Amino acid sequence: MKFSNGLLAILLTSGVLMTGCAIGDDDDDKRRGGSLDVAPVTDVAYGEECADCHMAYQPGFLPARSWQKMMGSLDDHFGENAELESDVQQRLTQYLTENAADNSNYKRSRGMMKSLSYDETPLRITETRYFIRKHDELPRRVVEDNPEVVSFSRCEVCHTQADKGSYDEHQVTIPGFGKWDD
Ligand code: HEC
Ligand code: HEC
Repeated sequence: MKFSNGLLAILLTSGVLMTGCAIGDDDDDKRRGGSLDVAPVTDVAYGEECADCHMAYQPGFLPARSWQKMMGSLDDHFGENAELESDVQQRLTQYLTENAADNSNYKRSRGMMKSLSYDETPLRITETRYFIRKHDELPRRVVEDNPEVVSFSRCEVCHTQADKGSYDEHQVTIPGFGKWDD
């Protein structure tokens, strides 16, 4: 892959800054994945380019083959055009595949991989058996028919720590309904 030197310098610098933050904010246990569900997003460019229309989903929620397929068809991304400059597109594809569910040891990544058969290449986290099983106690009225939620794709609306990679059910608050308590 090719970079202009300037871009590479920026990416390296921001990468270093991000790592610095992660160490400052999290205890050792969390960094090892002990209490986190999925590896947090560490790539600054990914967090910016892929978070215009929805949160930057953690790469550990889908297998590498899914990210490859998705990144190869950004001109028709769920009915939207999400195309990127080709060097950015290539670099983000690399980030996503290297940190995909099949390359991660975090518990949700392992759970996702266990539930997929080898010939499945889901493009939506929300359509996987793993996701559906985790959310099958939620009635329509709290999600689709709830004007403050509308779509399961908006993880961060209910999972208050989603941006940190924490999806613990005890941190869930459903807008209009309150804290999840099952
Ligand atoms: C122009 C807006 C836009 C941009 C930019 C965009 N997306 Fe999306 N994305 C969407 C829409 C719309 C959906 C479907 C959401 C829904 O149905 O509620 C979606 C859905 C997704 C989903 C599936 C969510 C689910 O339901 O499980 C993933 C994964 C995803 N996008 C990844 C990306 C990645 C990676 C990038 C950056 C390369 C990106 N998106 C950039 C609009 C966008
Ligand atoms: C409408 C609110 C809502 C949205 C939106 C939502 N979730 Fe959830 N999620 C929940 C609730 C409630 C639970 C706990 C369900 C239970 O215990 O039966 C849960 C459970 C989970 C769990 C298992 C956590 C545990 O402690 O067992 C994961 C992982 C998860 N969600 C990921 C996601 C992801 C990723 C998204 C977005 C693609 C998402 N969720 C969107 C409400 C939501």
